[in-house]
Parts: sequence; C-alpha cells; structure tokens
Amino acid sequence: MFSNEDILRRCHELVRELQACFGDEPPCLVQVIQGARPFARLIQGGLAGCLPVHEVRAKSYQGTQSTGEVAITMLDGLDRTVVDGCDVVLLEDIVDTGRTIAALREHFSKLGARSVRVVSMLSKPSRRVVEVEVEHIGFEIPDEFVIGFGMDLDGRYRELLDVVVYDADVERAHTQVNA
Ligand code: IMP
Repeated sequence: MFSNEDILRRCHELVRELQACFGDEPPCLVQVIQGARPFARLIQGGLAGCLPVHEVRAKSYQGTQSTGEVAITMLDGLDRTVVDGCDVVLLEDIVDTGRTIAALREHFSKLGARSVRVVSMLSKPSRRVVEVEVEHIGFEIPDEFVIGFGMDLDGRYRELLDVVVYDADVERAHTQVNA
C-alpha cells in the first residue's frame, strides 16, 4: 500500500506541520507502543533538539478484531509529573475505530496536559465508531487490515519496511511452500 520511501517522504511533511504548531517550549512526545515505534523514531529524528519519546501501551486488538476495550499502561516513569502542564503529542501507527486515541486523549487531559495533539501515520475513517480528533494524518486508507512498518498481526510482520495489506490466503500459501 505504501513503500518505505512513501512513508519517509510523508513523515518529513508531518515534521514540518508539527514544527509550525509549537513555539519555544518543546512538546512532550508519547508513542503508543509497540506499533508506532518506527514512525515515532522518524518524527523524533526530524524534530530539532532530539526530544525524548515517552511510551504508553494501549491494547484494544486481538488478531484482526477490535475488542472495544482499551487498556492503558504508562511506561518508564511517564506519570502525572511529566505530563502536567505539557503539550502532549501522541504518536500512533493507525487510528481505526478511534477508541484507543479517544481513551488516550481523555487519559492525558485528566493528567493535566495543557494540550493533546495526535499524529497518526495512518487512519481508516470509514471504520470510526468514536468521533475523535486526529490533527495530523500521514495517509487515509480504506477498510483493510494492514501490516508492516511497526504494525503487526499478533506480534508478526512489524519488521516489514513497507505497509502492506494482510492477506490470509497469501500467508497460508507461503507457510505451505516453506513447510
Ligand atoms: P482503534 O482503537 O480501533 O482506533 O485501534 C487502534 C489500534 O488498533 C492501533 O494502534 C493498532 O494497534 C490496531 N490496529 C487497527 N487497525 C489495524 C491494522 O489494520 N493493522 C494493524 N493494527 C491495527
């Protein structure tokens, strides 16, 4: 669906969009692990000053199905003292039903963030269940389950450099050939 080159090019543009949003005070970058890691690394690298990237875990998917429940875990010392009064930038791989980002926006607002801004590499607008603002979107995509560039299917395929549509038939054929 998107080559690694497409992603790199779009990330440069997103960095420029973000730079225009903040003044002297640096934002608090928070990546939603694990899927957003490669994307977050590019955004972080593009921003001047090499800001630290904090981590939050939000789990809502099992296989290719959204469970509807979002479990949030803050990692590595990310807590109210870090967030309070900061402009939080949430870095996400993909917004699908919108539940995860809605839950995270609320979570960080409650922790005292001055503002919360979302940057997502991908968005599937036709799948929204919850209306949620996503200020910066890399690419809008149709209702397909995609893998690669950090995105997984139960922990597999994150390492693919491109973003591709998951196809169960292709995977089965591949498994048989390699068996
Ligand atoms: P939402 O809460 O339904 O918006 O789901 C967001 C999360 O679901 C993302 O952070 C991903 O972890 C996962 N997700 C949604 N769609 C896909 C997909 O097509 N491929 C891989 N993961 C996905």
